[in-house]
Amino acid sequence: MHIPVLVKETIEMLDVKANGIYVDATVGLGGHAAAVLSMLGTGGRLIGIDRDEDALGYAGERLGNDRVSLRKGAFSQVGDVLLSLNIKEVDGVLFDLGVSMLQLKDFGRGFSFLSDARLDMRMDTAQELTAWDVVNRYPEKEIARILKEYGEEPFARRIAKAIIEYRKKAAINTCNELADIVMRACGRRGKTHPATRTFQALRIEVNKELDELKKGLASAVSILKSGGRLCVISYHSLEDRIVKNFIRDSAKGGVLKILTKKPVIPNIDEIRRNPSSRSAKLRGAERI
Ligand SMILES: C[S@@+](CC[C@H](N)C(=O)[O-])C[C@H]1O[C@@H](n2cnc3c(N)ncnc32)[C@H](O)[C@@H]1O
Repeated sequence: MHIPVLVKETIEMLDVKANGIYVDATVGLGGHAAAVLSMLGTGGRLIGIDRDEDALGYAGERLGNDRVSLRKGAFSQVGDVLLSLNIKEVDGVLFDLGVSMLQLKDFGRGFSFLSDARLDMRMDTAQELTAWDVVNRYPEKEIARILKEYGEEPFARRIAKAIIEYRKKAAINTCNELADIVMRACGRRGKTHPATRTFQALRIEVNKELDELKKGLASAVSILKSGGRLCVISYHSLEDRIVKNFIRDSAKGGVLKILTKKPVIPNIDEIRRNPSSRSAKLRGAERI
């Protein structure tokens, strides 16, 4: 089960009003959304977006309520989603970035290096591009760039070379196969599996996560009413940098007021209860 991260802190930062309209742009299994919903009165409304249909199924069961509207889509399209619901502006937008436990733990989805499933990693299973395509079809230089930029992998070139060498003999079909290739290329160092960065990089490429984030933040701000809140939880430095710079630039431009000079992070109790929260950073801003 997915344990939602920094829930209390996020709800406080969203400053949920009983009659407000809120967007959970990454509704996932509905943990944060349930907390927002519990604060809403009969006049309040919650719109949940996710590009993963399985997640929306779970969220629907959990949240089923006439004040809740769930929509499949990428959060870069949040403006269009609201238009289709005849909503012009909202009181708050929340992003809880990255993958859900549902995606990671369902080995068939091909996100985990522990899985023997086909390399996939699509959040939206209707999308064409999969991790298999990236690993088996992209040129060596492009693979090295992706590993370096999106995985911050110091052995990017070495791993890309090993992938190309392997590909000369056979296709790389499963997550396990790729994890072994990475392990052989750079050996085991420290506690984390050597394929962790490679898998993060591929996931970001397959789902165009950084591009989505930039567009999603801009769309979110365009639908916030004055005084409305933007809250973003990120899990790695690439995402956090984009969020931090976006909020800083919007503040300079007089569009947002910064609510978090430093990001809010989980306390030790939360990290003990839920170790996957350890890298979470929450940033918030208010629409001027
Ligand atoms: C960390 S989970 C959210 C968990 C949720 N807050 C909860 O409490 O259950 C992130 C979710 O965002 C979705 N997601 C990621 N990027 C997305 C995007 N660009 N557009 C729409 N959904 C996205 C994923 O499919 C995943 O279900």
